Amino acid sequence: MGDTGPAIDALQQRGEAYPPPAGMATYAVVGDPAVYDRAAADPVGWWEDQARRLQWDTPWHTALDESDAPFYRWFTGGTLNVAANCLDRHLAERGDRIAFHWEGEPGDRLHITYRELHERVCRFANALRTLGVGRGGRVAIYMGMIPELPVAMLACARLGAAHTVVFGGFSSEALRDRMEDFGATVLVTQDHSFRAGKHVHLKDNADVALAGAPGVRHCVVARRSGDPVEWTEGRDAWFHDLEQASSPDCPAEPMDAEQMLFALYTSGTTGKPKGIVHTSGGYLTGASATHRMVFDLRDDDVYWCAADIGWVTGHSYIVYGPLANGATSVMYEGAPAFPSHSRMWEIAERYRVSILYTAPTAIRSYMKWGDSYPKVHDLSAIRVLGSVGEPINPEAWEWYRDLIGSGTAPVVDTWWQTETGSMMISPLPAISTLKPGSASRPLPGISARVVGEDGLDVPRGEGGYLVIDRPWPSMLRTLLGDDDRYVATYWSRFPGLYLAGDGCRVDEDGDYWLLGRIDDVMNVSGHRLSTIEVESALVDHHAVAEAAVVGRADELTGQAIAAFVTLRDGVVGDEALIAELRNHVATLIGPIAKPASIVLTADLPKTRSGKIMRRLLRDVSEQRHLGDVTTLANEEVVEEIAAMATVNPHQED
Ligand code: WT7
Repeated sequence: MGDTGPAIDALQQRGEAYPPPAGMATYAVVGDPAVYDRAAADPVGWWEDQARRLQWDTPWHTALDESDAPFYRWFTGGTLNVAANCLDRHLAERGDRIAFHWEGEPGDRLHITYRELHERVCRFANALRTLGVGRGGRVAIYMGMIPELPVAMLACARLGAAHTVVFGGFSSEALRDRMEDFGATVLVTQDHSFRAGKHVHLKDNADVALAGAPGVRHCVVARRSGDPVEWTEGRDAWFHDLEQASSPDCPAEPMDAEQMLFALYTSGTTGKPKGIVHTSGGYLTGASATHRMVFDLRDDDVYWCAADIGWVTGHSYIVYGPLANGATSVMYEGAPAFPSHSRMWEIAERYRVSILYTAPTAIRSYMKWGDSYPKVHDLSAIRVLGSVGEPINPEAWEWYRDLIGSGTAPVVDTWWQTETGSMMISPLPAISTLKPGSASRPLPGISARVVGEDGLDVPRGEGGYLVIDRPWPSMLRTLLGDDDRYVATYWSRFPGLYLAGDGCRVDEDGDYWLLGRIDDVMNVSGHRLSTIEVESALVDHHAVAEAAVVGRADELTGQAIAAFVTLRDGVVGDEALIAELRNHVATLIGPIAKPASIVLTADLPKTRSGKIMRRLLRDVSEQRHLGDVTTLANEEVVEEIAAMATVNPHQED
């Protein structure tokens, strides 16, 4: 927990409220508000009804097993195969339906049907089998947004093996640590990925990572750029060679509902990333049910989640949820502004996208680039808009609805986390009255509260800690290899209550307003990074004696990383060193973790007990009034830092 307590700066509520579009409820997936009460009366039964929408090989005997809480288990006794649910069961009725309209960044396109995807998954699953992957196997995936990425994930699921996808923007060190921690025996990667017109050298990074991860015996490489890459005979194999050499016949393994489907690493308040474990039956139930309800999914929808599969949003709402629902999706490889600021709207127009899901950071960028870009495109097919990753400010919310949603599309602001697996607090577009900046209320079957330090509910209108007070099917099951940390991180602050780590306020109508993280975790462009991770990367540099990192408010990215660094004696600090330090962080973690600003200072503000006062640094970074510093050991430092912070405010790339 941070030194600040909950950051309860309530967002300004501007008072506007938007009722659902007239008549929408009549044909909606959820059109009757009574659903909330029905689900609340029997939440487990409600989730059983959702789980029955999936195809089970063996029915469960116990819907929710709480005997070993907080290690909850869902649908025990049941078996199913996640890939069969995403592919096979659609073949008879909608095999020729498009699963993905895929757009490459250079402009190449593929339109992949469910039948084609099924065949590729079967072949690649057989290929993985020849590399020793079977039930309970572990595969790491380090790729950009190419079709081979979902193929690899689903192939693992088909075999009953678990995957961990490492975001293609992470460094070789980050990849190595995750592969090691996960216990991967196979890595699936690609030669290069395209990002904003550049080549990202994934295979080169993978080679460096593999040198430090002896447990990984095979490296499968998808060809994307076609440019030459280093090759280790006996270890490396081409994705397409393996695929072609393998049979398209591959029975799906019936797996226990509680079998690990994947782990995804996310930042915590201590240095080591946490491997969030998700299982099969409950996870797929949550991802598919929320995808259908929250976006009001219909048969003729074209759905686009403009996230990266390397994050949980892509797992749940590009791959597993939409495919389980038999949806047609757009999948885009590249950067949103490449080659022009029209890219997203061009794609949305081409496929007549009707549901769009993206992050406030992207929305604010488009807003900044100007209305002219979306305005020249026909976005009239859009009927539901989604937002995720961080609180969305009312200006961006209204711009999104007006410019992208033709002034009529409901905006569903969906609050959830890597840990929750699927959406938790969100409007239902046909029945919720929307308030820009509020995520509305917990979805049917979800129960969330806001409590104070004592664990008791705070009065309406007051800020406190957001907790979930009932288990839900897609919840994380543990942290990989660290049950104690799972209990300590999520279940110890308030026993029996899941601590989300966010501040929240519930208004008079029962609508939830998320207020940002309460711990030392930053949210940069909707991605979580811990201050400690970035600090460790800085201190790793030989010139650095000590470092403190905070997230400061940033108009575009939500938060930007502000670093304060004291150098070792005798080291001269200059612009070149600052650039070197930023690159050092990029090398150790990835470009996303590069501090936006670094202030070199002779000392850091500390409490008498030696704790760095992050709140104060945050205030300095946001150039707020410095507040009470009487508990400071070295008061003069603050003045000095404040002066520096104003001369060195922002060093974006
Ligand atoms: C944290 C989770 C969930 C997928 C993307 C991020 C923040 C997420 C919202 C929202 C306010 C939000 C929270 C949360 N967050 N969505 N709609 N409104 N805050 O996943 O990396 O696990 O981060 O993102 O702080 O705890 P993640």
